[in-house]
Amino acid sequence: MRLAVLISGRGSNLRSILESERTGSLGKAIVSLIISDKRDAKGLKYSKEYNKKTIIIESNSHNSKEEYDNQLVKVLHEHDIDLIVLAGFMRILTPFFVNTFNNRIVNIHPSLLPAFPGLNAQKQALNHGSKISGCTVHFASEEVDDGPIILQRAVEISNDDTEESLSQKILKQEHEILPLALKLISEGKISIKERKIIVEE
Ligand code: GRF
Repeated sequence: MRLAVLISGRGSNLRSILESERTGSLGKAIVSLIISDKRDAKGLKYSKEYNKKTIIIESNSHNSKEEYDNQLVKVLHEHDIDLIVLAGFMRILTPFFVNTFNNRIVNIHPSLLPAFPGLNAQKQALNHGSKISGCTVHFASEEVDDGPIILQRAVEISNDDTEESLSQKILKQEHEILPLALKLISEGKISIKERKIIVEE
């Protein structure tokens, strides 16, 4: 199963995927392509480190979201990509893009969806006074941070947690469940009934 990992920034989830591949814990998945919409994304250092084919399609390089996504689809088809991983890719996808790869786009979000979609999910959880938050791996749908849930992990929020400390706690779990979800998908252990996902143990 050929993966494309899309990033915009730090790339710590990209790194966890590449490291899982290196240690043989990504199942039948291989990282075939890395795409960034930012030329200076910090995470691009990992594509060099792990020697991966990388393409930059800059955010402001097209006249509209539709043109951008057309280009993205073209590149993904050219590289025979089976599954797309949004690992901190900070763009809202067009319905055209999502429908072209129906249930073949995986996103990671730092909250227990459907709670706290959108930006600053960790801050939202703290401001809300939640006692528990976490992270969610799900298939992308036309709505932001929606779509069938594949895996979730919870973390406890303590009284002295800050946005930074909570983000770190959640990130640690993100780095485990994202590669695990990709492994399960690549091994055919995930089936979808309407919006419910059954994971074979
Ligand atoms: C992560 O918190 C992820 O859940 C969210 O964006 C952040 C990306 O971090 N979608 P990184 O670039 O993988 O370090």
